[in-house]
Amino acid sequence: MNHAIKIQENIYWIGANDRRTHLFENYWPLPKGVAYNSYLIADEKVAVIDTIERNKMEDYVENIEAILDGRLVDYVIVNHMEPDHTGALKNLLCRYPNATIVGNAKTFPVLKNFYDIRDHLMEVREGCTLDLGRHKLTFYMTPMLHWPETMVTFDATSGILFSGDIFGAFGTLDGGIFDDEVDLDYLEEEISRYYSNIVGKFGQPAQLALKKLEALPVRMICSTHGPLRRSFVNDIIAKYNAWSKYETSKGVIIVFSSMYGNTERMADEIARCLVENGIKKIRLHDSSKTHPSYIINDIFRFRGVILGSCAYNANIFPAMETLLHELEQIGVKNHLLGYFGDKSWSGGAINRFDRFAKNIDWEIVHPAHEAWGAPKTGDREACRNIARAMADKLNALYPDEA
Ligand code: FEO
Repeated sequence: MNHAIKIQENIYWIGANDRRTHLFENYWPLPKGVAYNSYLIADEKVAVIDTIERNKMEDYVENIEAILDGRLVDYVIVNHMEPDHTGALKNLLCRYPNATIVGNAKTFPVLKNFYDIRDHLMEVREGCTLDLGRHKLTFYMTPMLHWPETMVTFDATSGILFSGDIFGAFGTLDGGIFDDEVDLDYLEEEISRYYSNIVGKFGQPAQLALKKLEALPVRMICSTHGPLRRSFVNDIIAKYNAWSKYETSKGVIIVFSSMYGNTERMADEIARCLVENGIKKIRLHDSSKTHPSYIINDIFRFRGVILGSCAYNANIFPAMETLLHELEQIGVKNHLLGYFGDKSWSGGAINRFDRFAKNIDWEIVHPAHEAWGAPKTGDREACRNIARAMADKLNALYPDEA
């Protein structure tokens, strides 16, 4: 059950919380659920801004009907075509068949492909304005944040930026919907995990969008996911700016793939040596246990990355392969890299790490090392050399950070 919530005179949140779906886009874990935010402006003309996922639309149209009390929806603005925001569109159009769908030139081909919707379309371009009466909406194109057709809608009257997925977050809105009503500390990882995994590939488009939006007198940000920003607007903008510039701090993520504990022993050796050399912020992940989205989130945070894998059928361990593939396709930038492995009966992991290092183009701090079976004294020392080299680089780069 979802209730509409008034956020300003004539403007309502009509979104939905999804606590049942386990995987966002059928891939990203949702331990704290996700909210699909949709908005209604009931002015002289009525506009819905983005809709919600199909599986949560049981009360959606009824909530709109209750607010409008017999009036009709004039416009449905599609800032972003992904079905978590257009899943309820056809149902909405069944109830309001004369509503005009507002999108841009890249919106409508996708709309046709996904839903075979071809009529009642209004194409807007950069800077176009839609007059609802008191509220005047202006549209700005934000391509590749994170689909080609994405745009944002700014209401100059209220100062609200309806930002689509930009500034979004995983996590449901449990009672509070505004940033000053919810526990932002509790949601912090879900906010950055959403950025790093959903938007993180598109750092350059994010920088372009931020530059464009900084000219607008934004008083509130209403994204399609996560808390609405009214008290900490600048905070989330600053975070996006840093994330999209791949700014990192002093720390090391160690990820290992280990069948029988030998590669894990080397990871532990490295972690200890890092601490002995002044590195405190260390996150050590087992690739078989931790979903890549959490590891990638940590990688967006810290400069140092050390990866270790046992060989598996003369190649790298499958869980590590998944992580490498994701990092390559996101194209995360600006890191220091070390890697090591265990040959098991064949070797093979290091070859894949070599290819990864070439593809991702991070700075390698020290030559790799690969052990045969249980790590011996020499293997442990080789791992410590990787750790020392990483610590030296980080201490030099961040002399004032703990
Ligand atoms: Fe929230 Fe890109 O959909």
